[in-house]
Amino acid sequence: MTEPKSDAFVLFGATGDLAHKKIFSSLYAMVQRGNLDVPVIGVAYEDWPLEKLLERAHDGIQTDRGKVDEKVFGKLAKLLKYVGGDYRDPATFEKLKTQLDGSARPLHYMAIPPSMFEQVVQGLEQSGCATNARLMVEKPFGRDLASARWLNRILRLVFEEKSIFRIDHYLGKEAVQNLLYFRFANSYLEPIWNRNFVESVQVTMAEDFGVQGRGKFYEEVGAIRDVIQNHLLHLVVILAMEAPSGNVDQSLIDEKVKITKAIRPLTDADVVRGQFKGYRDEPGVAPDSQVETFAAVRMFVDSWRWEGVPFSIRAGKCLPAHVNEAIIRLRPPPFNVFGEQFGNASNYVRFRFSPDIAIALGSRKKTPGANMTGEQIELYACDDIKDEMEPYERLIGDAMKGDPSLFTRADASELAWKIIDPIMGGDHKVAEYEPGTWGPKKAGAKITPPHGWIDPVM
Ligand code: BG6
Repeated sequence: MTEPKSDAFVLFGATGDLAHKKIFSSLYAMVQRGNLDVPVIGVAYEDWPLEKLLERAHDGIQTDRGKVDEKVFGKLAKLLKYVGGDYRDPATFEKLKTQLDGSARPLHYMAIPPSMFEQVVQGLEQSGCATNARLMVEKPFGRDLASARWLNRILRLVFEEKSIFRIDHYLGKEAVQNLLYFRFANSYLEPIWNRNFVESVQVTMAEDFGVQGRGKFYEEVGAIRDVIQNHLLHLVVILAMEAPSGNVDQSLIDEKVKITKAIRPLTDADVVRGQFKGYRDEPGVAPDSQVETFAAVRMFVDSWRWEGVPFSIRAGKCLPAHVNEAIIRLRPPPFNVFGEQFGNASNYVRFRFSPDIAIALGSRKKTPGANMTGEQIELYACDDIKDEMEPYERLIGDAMKGDPSLFTRADASELAWKIIDPIMGGDHKVAEYEPGTWGPKKAGAKITPPHGWIDPVM
């Protein structure tokens, strides 16, 4: 059954960083494609005239896209309204109601810190702005299992589960969609996609820049909460899950939840934390901060298919490259027919999510000549995507249509924390690493996959 489309888009946190960096740019793209023609109401604390918000939106779009088509921006500007006020003040929500002007099914997007969710949800309810509305909630969804449960309770007091859209922009990425598609639209992977053939699964999310002025935010989260608990765990889930069947929209979410339940909660032996030299000099960062800017974790999936296969994940700031990929490394041939030393190279499947979208098969081929010796090559397929829909654009569009398939259901949001929670308590010390290296040297060995990490080829 198709759900009715939202007839207004409300953006809480309209003057904030995410709105500036991503959301206005996505709304602009929606207008450009003809997918947005309903009122867009920005809400934030600042007492700004609409012109100032328009300027900021324009600047955000310019920065994200490099250029702005003024005709398209003009159309977006005509849709845009602004409500300034304190989220604790009922008058703010009364002003919002007036601006909503009888909208029957608004979509409220909370691009605000989780500490404000309760206030906003209550304000929406008391003013009547929550009636028949949808709610989109930004990450991080809580900071541990207890706070995620509490958040779910707060949201569910006012909104039905089918109207709540917990966003993780990774799920809206073309490359992540492609991973799901590639796994289940091809038959040849299935026979090798298990513990008999796979030696390790490796996921790398490397960024060659620091915290880019977000020191204050980063101090609250660290790499594990910022990207491993959500983005990279989603990748693990898609790599490890069973194929959905029957009603695929529903069973896809069920299969994801099923495999998430099978991921063993982490222990301190499964994690290495690092911090790049210089992080403590960033604005907003404590001089003795122990927040990790790099983490490597090793997960195991307790299932028939994956028993004993390490899923090794590493993510960090100030690493040697800006790249995100997953490697499914296969076991070496059972008998070394040609007596060669392969070193770190071997057979693998590489999924590159960014900066380019590619799939490569790591293979051996014979080097031409008299000797039976070979070399490592990659059979490589790369997508040349020109007009790719950005994740936020895709996800806002889906939420406006009421399509939940690319969002995190309540049970999944809590299960993800169950895996991470055991390593988040206590006093952890980080090991320092030089910017431009693959994290702290000594500590790395503890959770390095068998035969080592396969570093991205740039
Ligand atoms: C965000 C994190 O969720 O994802 C950032 O807060 C990170 O720290 C970003 O840089 C990476 O996303 P993308 O889409 O730029 O790869």
